[in-house]
Amino acid sequence: MLKMKFLNQIVRLLDKTRNKLTPPPVRLRELAFSYFQAQVVHAVAFLEIPEHTADAPKTLEELATLTQADPDALGRLLRVSSLFGLTREVGARRYSCTPVGQLLRRGIPNSMYSLAVSSGREWYGAMNHLPEAIRTGRCTFADHYGVPFFQYMAENPDSAGVYNDSMTALSRREVPAILAEYDFSSRKHIVDVAGGLGHCIHSILEKHPHLEGTLFDQESVIAKARTNTDLAARCNFATGNFFEEIPAGGDTYVMQRALHNWNDEEALKILKNFRRALPDDGLLLLFETAIRENEIDSGRLNSDLLMLCMMDGRERDRDQFRELLKAAGLELKRIIPTRSISSIIEAVGV
Ligand SMILES: C[S@@+](CC[C@H](N)C(=O)[O-])C[C@H]1O[C@@H](n2cnc3c(N)ncnc32)[C@H](O)[C@@H]1O
Repeated sequence: MLKMKFLNQIVRLLDKTRNKLTPPPVRLRELAFSYFQAQVVHAVAFLEIPEHTADAPKTLEELATLTQADPDALGRLLRVSSLFGLTREVGARRYSCTPVGQLLRRGIPNSMYSLAVSSGREWYGAMNHLPEAIRTGRCTFADHYGVPFFQYMAENPDSAGVYNDSMTALSRREVPAILAEYDFSSRKHIVDVAGGLGHCIHSILEKHPHLEGTLFDQESVIAKARTNTDLAARCNFATGNFFEEIPAGGDTYVMQRALHNWNDEEALKILKNFRRALPDDGLLLLFETAIRENEIDSGRLNSDLLMLCMMDGRERDRDQFRELLKAAGLELKRIIPTRSISSIIEAVGV
């Protein structure tokens, strides 16, 4: 882990030096046109080129048939994706994927397919309206997609499928870091609120077999989670709306990366419902990005802008968490950093 941290620091330093040395017009051009990279990643993932080249390189014509693409347009995409280091030409008009491109395969451990597709579609669409969001201070997703983000997901099962998988992909990276820092052994019943497809609660229950667990989310998401037989054998399911009620019965409530989807007024309603559900010895654990003083991690700061554009949400710092929790009748006990982007925000009822 130290090695990774050290490498990240070196990469950041190199980036900083490179930015300083790059002439301003060149740097601006790079920034202004960086959407090419995002959309080329999206197209390569969406067309499942890594999947089609997994066993052996394919000719352009074979790939065009497999992806139902126009051969000329596909050749132009592959020329650019090879420049970006996602694919490579291994013979005349024969292509394979690089180790970076292979991360876009579906169903492999650490697959980034769903993240790339979701991020290139609705997240990208939401960020397209950043200037409006900055001017108004509000999310404009509904102005362009007709309905707020989670309603859009409920009405578009195809997008929802990829989005829920992308949340699981993020969870896979974060949960081991959370479990390394937090000891659940003295707890009895964990309720994972807005727990998506259940990766987080599943991992907690696997590590602590004595625990009972409940996964709570919207009906449409729980319907998919129930099909995971491993999870179903170990976990209760509950459906509902956390703005109305959070189910009682747990002694430990967790919520991963969901409070940041909401503005302060909405987040307060959710926290008040947590307060109602918490027993006297109850614990609330939020697994969220906590913005640090003089934050320099672009992942945390980018996520803050994405939350603004997509859902009217935000990332919060220690004071903002403390104040929100206090207004809901909760007390912030600790913020425990982890080696992932998420910290553990521990709170109790007052
Ligand atoms: C950002 S995702 C996080 C999912 C999960 N915790 C994870 O990290 O993979 C937010 C979750 O909030 C759920 N959600 C949104 N609105 C909700 C509501 N009103 N009541 C209950 N859950 C809701 C969504 O269905 C989604 O699963």
